[in-house]
Amino acid sequence: MTTKPAAAPPTTNKHLIRWVEKMAELTQPANIHWVDGSQAEYDMLCDKLVEAGTFFPLDEKKWPGCFYARSVPTDVARVEERTFICSLSKDNAGPTNNWEDPFVMRKRMKQLFTGSMRGRTMYVLPFSMGPVGSPISQIGVELTDSAYVVVNMRIMSRIGAPVLAEIDKEIHRVTPCMHTVGAPLDPGQKDVSWPCNDLKYIVHYPETREIWSYGSGYGGNALLGKKCFALRIASNIARDQGWMAEHMLIVGIETPPDATGRTEKTYLAAAFPSACGKTNLAMLIPPAGFDGWKVWTVGDDIAWIKPDASGQLRAINPEAGFFGVAPGTSLKTNPNAMATLNRNSIFTNVALTVGADGKADGGIWWEGMTDAVPDRLIDWRGNPWTPSSPTPAAHPNGRFTTPASQCPSIDPDWENPQGVPISAFLFGGRRPTTIPLVYQAFNWSAGVYTGATMGSETTAAAGAPVGKVRRDPMAMLPFCGYHMGDYFRHWINMKRSFSETPRIFSVNWFRKDADGNFLWPGYGENMRVLKWVVDRVHGRVPGKETAIGWTPYFEDIRWEGLDKSESELRASFDQLLLVDPEAWKREVIDHEQLFIALHDHLPAEMIFQRELLICRL
Ligand code: OXD
Ligand code: MN
Repeated sequence: MTTKPAAAPPTTNKHLIRWVEKMAELTQPANIHWVDGSQAEYDMLCDKLVEAGTFFPLDEKKWPGCFYARSVPTDVARVEERTFICSLSKDNAGPTNNWEDPFVMRKRMKQLFTGSMRGRTMYVLPFSMGPVGSPISQIGVELTDSAYVVVNMRIMSRIGAPVLAEIDKEIHRVTPCMHTVGAPLDPGQKDVSWPCNDLKYIVHYPETREIWSYGSGYGGNALLGKKCFALRIASNIARDQGWMAEHMLIVGIETPPDATGRTEKTYLAAAFPSACGKTNLAMLIPPAGFDGWKVWTVGDDIAWIKPDASGQLRAINPEAGFFGVAPGTSLKTNPNAMATLNRNSIFTNVALTVGADGKADGGIWWEGMTDAVPDRLIDWRGNPWTPSSPTPAAHPNGRFTTPASQCPSIDPDWENPQGVPISAFLFGGRRPTTIPLVYQAFNWSAGVYTGATMGSETTAAAGAPVGKVRRDPMAMLPFCGYHMGDYFRHWINMKRSFSETPRIFSVNWFRKDADGNFLWPGYGENMRVLKWVVDRVHGRVPGKETAIGWTPYFEDIRWEGLDKSESELRASFDQLLLVDPEAWKREVIDHEQLFIALHDHLPAEMIFQRELLICRL
């Protein structure tokens, strides 16, 4: 079968045209479609997805401009065990990544991609991670045979004609990204609603900056701008060029106006492993007692951070949308997210509500969306569901894809090409014991040690043994595209390019008492901790020195608006901030396991910091 010749490509870039031709020869699509990114094209592709049974339009009144999609049960999440960093030397990938010889992998990819798009359209999708034209942005082109990917990428990044115009300037290095669902169609063969392949490969070549993704149509496996480019490939680019590509949210904390009407805005970047409430923190609404305070959202998942000419660190959110976990999101836990996703959004693997006739009525639901659980639903697999069903109605990793511009708390500067100034980094995890609510590291190296050794308790949703601490350095374990020990060294080295060193904090919203109850209310109340962080950044409050860093004094936390007596607050505060030397000695022994794995690339600073910590304990 031959590819129908496309109309003249809408680009003057000969390298791009030649690459597209070569890849079309390899994958043999029926058509080539150059994506312009327009609303008309988006609408056309959504119609096509509805026709194919991939999309189900939701009720125009309740969910204007929204669509529902259901994947197959074998394609519901990122596949870490099928993710490869194919650097020339195995040593560069390090022990925390899967590695394969790039020559071997290229041969395998060539075989798998041969004819892989037969019967389908190959979309040529130019995308910019970060505002088009920003000095911190990067450009890629994804060739994909999935219209679902194109419409999701239109929400998650800047795509189409404006990006192609940048590529035509021939001043950018463009990252080529190949994607196929791996389900070619024979002539006359009827398509399925969610084409994919049981065999999956998510492959990165860091030296040549290429991504080849085979077999999955879902999320981070297929929307290649996100985890594959903005973290795994970008972490390599960032190391080479002296900046940072991090798995971090970005928020701006603004004080109420002072007597002269001036406000102060402080930006923080924060890393948390999956399932620790990153999107909630990014969209926090200040609680009672914080009249006039504002929290502004810049990003909820990824931050690209670069020192400017004066040595001030500045960050952009390379994405343009939120690809958030739906279950647990509600008007109570995250009203800003609910106000963002209520229009022009795509919902994947959540549940459908039904009318009196038992048929889908154009509404959706997920666990935690409302206190009242509907009597009947259609679950994410398409089966009838009632509250007594043994499985959840929405898949625990069911997602919304929604434009960041719709977020009520979106920062006025979120698309500033220069980025926003970063004053502090936060590292957090889900830790029922040992780690205090908040502490500030003594200095940059000690802070890097804190991030490098952070961990999170595994939850039931992850399918792993519950209650074990999984080390997840800087929340980058699945996303760092090179040796983790070298990544720590890069963090240590970054300090040389700062005019003012950002402060580093550890936070833990998940500490429990002896009976297993959470000691901290979390959600909006986390503002009380953020205010202390901001006060510390500006040198306004003293810190209480402990063996691990500075913790707050009770008086320096704003308690106003919490419905508890001072003695109650003090009692839980003491438990929340406790630094137990015995527990910490066990903690440090546990750090050693990760360090042993990374030993030959571990910067000496990490060993010194560990020794210092042991001495202080
Ligand atoms: C995500 C993740 O999807 O971190 O953002 O897993
Ligand atoms: Mn993430």
